[in-house]
Amino acid sequence: MLNLSVQELQQHATPFYVYDLNLLRQTLQQASQEAAKYNFQVHYAMKANTNSPILNEMRAVGFGADCVSGNEVKCAIENGFPADHVVFAGVGKSDAEINYALDQNIFCFNCESSHELIVLNELAEAKGKTARVALRINPNVNANTHKYITTGLEENKFGINAWELPDVLTLLKSLPSLSLIGLHFHIGSQITDLSAFRNLCTRVNEFQDWFESQQVQLEHINVGGGLGVDYYSPDEQPIPDFESYFSLFNQFLEVRPNQQVHFELGRALVAQSGTLISKVLYIKKGVSTNFAILDAGMTELIRPALYQSYHKIENLTSKGPEDKYDVVGPICESSDCFGKAVVLPETNRGDLIAIRTAGAYGEVMASAYNLRDKAAAVYLS
Ligand code: LLP
Repeated sequence: MLNLSVQELQQHATPFYVYDLNLLRQTLQQASQEAAKYNFQVHYAMKANTNSPILNEMRAVGFGADCVSGNEVKCAIENGFPADHVVFAGVGKSDAEINYALDQNIFCFNCESSHELIVLNELAEAKGKTARVALRINPNVNANTHKYITTGLEENKFGINAWELPDVLTLLKSLPSLSLIGLHFHIGSQITDLSAFRNLCTRVNEFQDWFESQQVQLEHINVGGGLGVDYYSPDEQPIPDFESYFSLFNQFLEVRPNQQVHFELGRALVAQSGTLISKVLYIKKGVSTNFAILDAGMTELIRPALYQSYHKIENLTSKGPEDKYDVVGPICESSDCFGKAVVLPETNRGDLIAIRTAGAYGEVMASAYNLRDKAAAVYLS
């Protein structure tokens, strides 16, 4: 059960997100401690959650920022991340976004196509600058995760495919305003089977061998993010197993002398620290089920509707006999459902409901559909 004071939660208007900053700090401490064992550099994947108090904690432990839009780069800089700890990825960077990042002298552009390299070179040249570039390579490794969050297969839009690399190297020789500093990979998100990362290491080693055979030395290897969290047991597994994760890369990645290894973790750092708190508006008896209708919906947390993803649902205020409920939101869409046949203690109007493990890809994916207000964020420490 959620380890926060119900009395405290009852003081806030629902729906709202609550963040447990204590748990967040413990999580970041563990992650940074395990990464430091191997001198790995972590960049927080800002797309998971861009709230300033969360970003402050990330910066405080020395993480850089992994951004996927000009506004994320701006948000990182405004929240005090040093520009030389900011990386910028994404298949569709606009000219304005690239120009802004060039002006900030960010650490690295993770480039995803030949065409992007040509445009980046032009824009850097116009400013008389040299842009540091890592090639995002599509390693064709299956992450065994939901198809919408798999990114490292040849059928995905992300990255440069292996067979394009000889042409890309030739192209780079004709682009004087770019400096190739490394390789970037990201195979997907919510990966719980660590063998996918082992397969990634094998592929990265092969790519490194190939680049060396072409007399290209790389100072940086960025293996992306993707470490999953336990949505089923947030209390038993509040902190992901960073020890096994980082030690696997240490064991299987063939790091060259003077090479820096980078990670881009999002979900694993912040998911368990966030909970969506909602109130029950109505109980409705269906034919074969009860509906518990909440004041939060897919506009606050879209993951169940979009990916059929599981979030643990708890009634924080009832101790009555158990029953089954379809827990739904108020939005005019049948997919606006947080869970079907969820076993809860007898649930009544006014009960406080916690939807767990919502700190990552929760608030950031909120929408104003149905002209909904934005849910507030509350921070407890
Ligand atoms: N690096 C790159 C290039 C990425 O595309 C992503 C996530 C990350 C790092 C961070 O991955 P993480 O460590 O958080 O798994 N909205 C979806 C997840 C989309 C992930 C997109 N890219 C969800 O709610 O499950």
